[in-house]
Amino acid sequence: MLRPHLLLASLAAGPAWARSNLTVQVPAVDTLLLPRPFNDSFDQPFVDTTFGNRTSATSATISAARNASFIAYDDEFLSIIGEDPKVRLLATSSSPNISFAFEAGVWVPELNQVWFTAYLDPTPGYLSILDLNTSTVFRPRIEPAGILPNPNGGYYFNGKVYMTTFGDTTTTPAIVAIDPRTYHAEEVVNSYFGLPLSGPDDVTVAVSQSNDTKHECIFFTDFFFNDEGLDADTFKGPSELPYFVWRYTTHNENLRPVIGPLEIPVPNGLAVDAANSLLYVTDGPDTSVFQRQVNHTTPSFAGIYQYDLAGVDGCTPLNKRLIAFARQGFANGIKVDDKGRVWTAEYEGVVVRDGMTGKVLGLFNAVDIILNNTENPVDVRDVAPFANFALAGNELVILAFNRIFGVKLAERVVDPKRFVL
Ligand SMILES: *[C@@H]1O[C@H](CO)[C@@H](O)[C@H](O)[C@H]1NC(C)=O
Ligand SMILES: *[C@@H]1O[C@H](CO)[C@@H](O)[C@H](O)[C@H]1NC(C)=O
Ligand SMILES: *[C@@H]1O[C@H](CO)[C@@H](O)[C@H](O)[C@H]1NC(C)=O
Ligand SMILES: *[C@@H]1O[C@H](CO)[C@@H](O)[C@H](O)[C@H]1NC(C)=O
Ligand SMILES: *[C@@H]1O[C@H](CO)[C@@H](O)[C@H](O)[C@H]1NC(C)=O
Ligand SMILES: *[C@@H]1O[C@H](CO)[C@@H](O)[C@H](O)[C@H]1NC(C)=O
Ligand SMILES: *[C@@H]1O[C@H](CO)[C@@H](O)[C@H](O)[C@H]1NC(C)=O
Ligand SMILES: *[C@@H]1O[C@H](CO)[C@@H](O)[C@H](O)[C@H]1NC(C)=O
Ligand SMILES: *[C@@H]1O[C@H](CO)[C@@H](O)[C@H](O)[C@H]1NC(C)=O
Repeated sequence: MLRPHLLLASLAAGPAWARSNLTVQVPAVDTLLLPRPFNDSFDQPFVDTTFGNRTSATSATISAARNASFIAYDDEFLSIIGEDPKVRLLATSSSPNISFAFEAGVWVPELNQVWFTAYLDPTPGYLSILDLNTSTVFRPRIEPAGILPNPNGGYYFNGKVYMTTFGDTTTTPAIVAIDPRTYHAEEVVNSYFGLPLSGPDDVTVAVSQSNDTKHECIFFTDFFFNDEGLDADTFKGPSELPYFVWRYTTHNENLRPVIGPLEIPVPNGLAVDAANSLLYVTDGPDTSVFQRQVNHTTPSFAGIYQYDLAGVDGCTPLNKRLIAFARQGFANGIKVDDKGRVWTAEYEGVVVRDGMTGKVLGLFNAVDIILNNTENPVDVRDVAPFANFALAGNELVILAFNRIFGVKLAERVVDPKRFVL
């Protein structure tokens, strides 16, 4: 089982202010220069910071921000959310303690759907589809049966939905491609020279920008899921491969590791920018997943890394640089919008950063949107308030265990054209 519900203690009974739809602007300087004395810790969000002087303007701003759905640290965030942003409840699971909405968050533009996977406690996990036209959720019947044991991450590309699976007690993990109209599925990768994958978590696809024929580069992260501490009926191991970011190029049938564990110890979330020139990888070491005190004797932490996609084949990750880290928890889901902004699912909420500068532009605040409300009396969360989301054209879709929220944005942040070869 996962560790005790760290956030449960803050789920105080009483009146709820969930989904206030309020926006609070916090001056960027308040993220780095505060009136003393101030107090906060890494296992609480920034908006929980308390101040010795409660009458200061900063104290008032932070406490108002705690109560807001949207927190702008930069004016650019205001232009993303528009004048009158609202958090809509799009779907709820059939019972409050059924966590149907956890991972993936794949927008399938041709059908205007969001595909997502259930939390793996309890297993078996399963895939569901949210039809955004009607706000209805259903479970597709994937053929052949049994090809998608405990699905996790996903990505839509060129008419197929690529999903990762953590396997089960009889089937080792795999990357699976699904036709979103027929639900016919095929395995794409399940091993490396006879060694099974450990537990592919996330998958994304880049189009090579080399001068040769344009070709697709499928990237996926792999780590042994049972090491995360959830004793789920996923692949039981033994885990035989190092924790890699892998790359599969279909045109020459080549599977190779491109990032090793000395670079990123536990690669988790993956995303490519619209120009196919940058790859983002997040690190999800269990110190961060479980909000343990930072261990200064180990190099692992909740880093968010950027690489150039370059080299002779046009899709080799080069020039690793750290652009950010998750202030609370780690960056699980990650997506890049058409303006190069990086959106991540961290424990504080959906964080939006400028991809070039790494500056935090704003936050869709989990305290207000997901936590602390009376409509959701059963706490199904383990550790994190949520793990992933989708950027569905002009809508942010937040997967919050037993509920799904939508926020219509003032601009279309993702153009479907990027998902074709
Ligand atoms: C929940 O709401 C109550 C009152 O509205 C507030 O006192 C409490 O701090 C809130 N808890 C969290 C976790 O936001
Ligand atoms: C926020 O907007 C949603 C969607 O319109 C609405 O259901 C909800 O009641 C609003 N919240 C408040 C506090 O008005
Ligand atoms: C900060 O807050 C924590 C928890 O509320 C408390 O245990 C700690 O003593 C505080 N530290 C200071 C310096 O006030
Ligand atoms: C607290 O903040 C207020 C408003 O900024 C200020 O007038 C006051 O002097 C501060 N008190 C202390 C003790 O610093
Ligand atoms: C939080 O928001 C609710 C609903 O809008 C409001 O009633 C309450 O006064 C707010 N609390 C604070 C501290 O701003
Ligand atoms: C989940 O909820 C259902 C009813 O809503 C209840 O029968 C069941 O015992 C609950 N399961 C757990 C693990 O809490
Ligand atoms: C949703 O609406 C769009 C645009 O009207 C349409 O192209 C698409 O097929 C619809 N999706 C489904 C699942 O019917
Ligand atoms: C930090 O990591 C080292 C090396 O893995 C380990 O020996 C040590 O016990 C850890 N310390 C804490 C406080 O977790
Ligand atoms: C691609 O072609 C351009 C122009 O001919 C050349 O400058 C560049 O070096 C080539 N790149 C690769 C990776 O071959």
